[in-house]
Amino acid sequence: MEQQYILSLDQGTSSSRAIVFDRKGSICSVAQREFEQIFPRSGWVEHNPHQIWASQASVIAEAISKIDINGKNIAAIGITNQRETTIVWDRDTEEPIYNAIVWQDRRTSEYCDQLRREGVVEMIRSKTGLILDAYFSATKIKWILDNVPGARKRADEGKLMFGTVETWLMWRLTRGDIHVTDVSNASRTMLFNIHTLEWDKELLDMFGIPLSMMPEVKSSSEVYGHTTSTLFAHHVPISGSAGDQQAALFGQMCIEPGSVKNTYGTGCFLLMNSGERPIESKNKLLTTIAWKLGDKVTYALEGSIFVGGSVIQWLRDSLKCITSSAEVEALAESVPDTDGVYFVPALTGLGAPYWDQYARGAISGISRGTTTAHIARAALEGIAYQTYDIVKAMERDAELPIANLKVDGGASRNNLLMQFQSDILNTDVMRPRITETTALGAAYLAGLAVGYWSDLDEVRSQWQVEKVFSPSGDLAKVASEIEGWHNAVNRVLTEYP
Ligand code: G3P
Repeated sequence: MEQQYILSLDQGTSSSRAIVFDRKGSICSVAQREFEQIFPRSGWVEHNPHQIWASQASVIAEAISKIDINGKNIAAIGITNQRETTIVWDRDTEEPIYNAIVWQDRRTSEYCDQLRREGVVEMIRSKTGLILDAYFSATKIKWILDNVPGARKRADEGKLMFGTVETWLMWRLTRGDIHVTDVSNASRTMLFNIHTLEWDKELLDMFGIPLSMMPEVKSSSEVYGHTTSTLFAHHVPISGSAGDQQAALFGQMCIEPGSVKNTYGTGCFLLMNSGERPIESKNKLLTTIAWKLGDKVTYALEGSIFVGGSVIQWLRDSLKCITSSAEVEALAESVPDTDGVYFVPALTGLGAPYWDQYARGAISGISRGTTTAHIARAALEGIAYQTYDIVKAMERDAELPIANLKVDGGASRNNLLMQFQSDILNTDVMRPRITETTALGAAYLAGLAVGYWSDLDEVRSQWQVEKVFSPSGDLAKVASEIEGWHNAVNRVLTEYP
């Protein structure tokens, strides 16, 4: 029999990727394409759904042709994706009726304020585990229905479909055969009851969203359908799906309660496996669904940072102090420290644990001697400080210190950032051999569903550490740096509750 692989699709905020894994969990082929970020107004962020699909389709073709395989060699497809990003399309024409409204988009902030005044925060939190915020899909769907001419009527007639990105990709891969999501993505819409595992009628009514728009909710590892797209000559099963942060938690093999990972992608997302019990946060973290395997649901506690690696993109594209993201480490390393500069990257508000939709970024402590190198270093440190704040909130919720931090995602390859992270947390930071853990997690979910891997023990044995960053132990220096960071954050916080 010909060699079999798992194809993992990782549709992220900044790029679409396709990665082919073999039975050992090793990467055999990767293809990646960035696509257009659309900023129609301040605080608005959109993607063109056709570009999402086209970029994803092109990297699939590239990844499989690089190693000269075809659909026959693919045992299953796993999908993982930027979460919350909202697409609404017409059931008859199959055309999106508006651009995808990206998770970072803040256009519904004022509406969220209005809801807050109406006193629904606790009702939303108790059902969905989420903090009322423009981040999640619900208010974005409502915005589309309220603002696209004729949309509300089409929705009421049952003619519109909603999906987060995995739903849209599965729809396209199967040419409209399936309209499904998985529990982990559903749990990010602010419309899903994470205890009953159903779309919540009260919330759908509150946002004026007909149930007929919503995809069917499935587990994270089962055959959802088969490809009929011309990309593959064969009907390949699609059998794994999870939001990218939950997939990374799985790929990092954080399958025991208490294990923690941080993914340094466009944003940074720190998740702790909380087992079969949803932990209610007292420190402004989110309770979310990690995955469902068979009948067993695993929950997680999450701290979401809106701007992580994308601050490096900003240095590249807006400040133009580097020409490629990879250059940031050398630039930051060209100075011994930030010389008192702090960079609070609240470019799209601040997520956990501050949840200030109106905060905006600031670079403080600039003097005549400040150079772009200091700013680049401060930008990297800003990513680590935000992670520090989340870890501390999580430790308070869990009532125990985290044993170590497993890291992944593009910016985890930055040694300076990882060492600084370890120093300020005073904890070992562990980088695995495969930092593509998001894609690996989706591959595992898909492969387990079709018997490509026999069980969790088989995949667990594949996790290997590549490098451990151990803390410097200079606690006095760390304490003063953290104090400086919190002073800088306090300057950008608004009156917002
Ligand atoms: O919740 C948003 C998150 O899923 C985005 O992930 O990897 O595109 O930054 P990423």
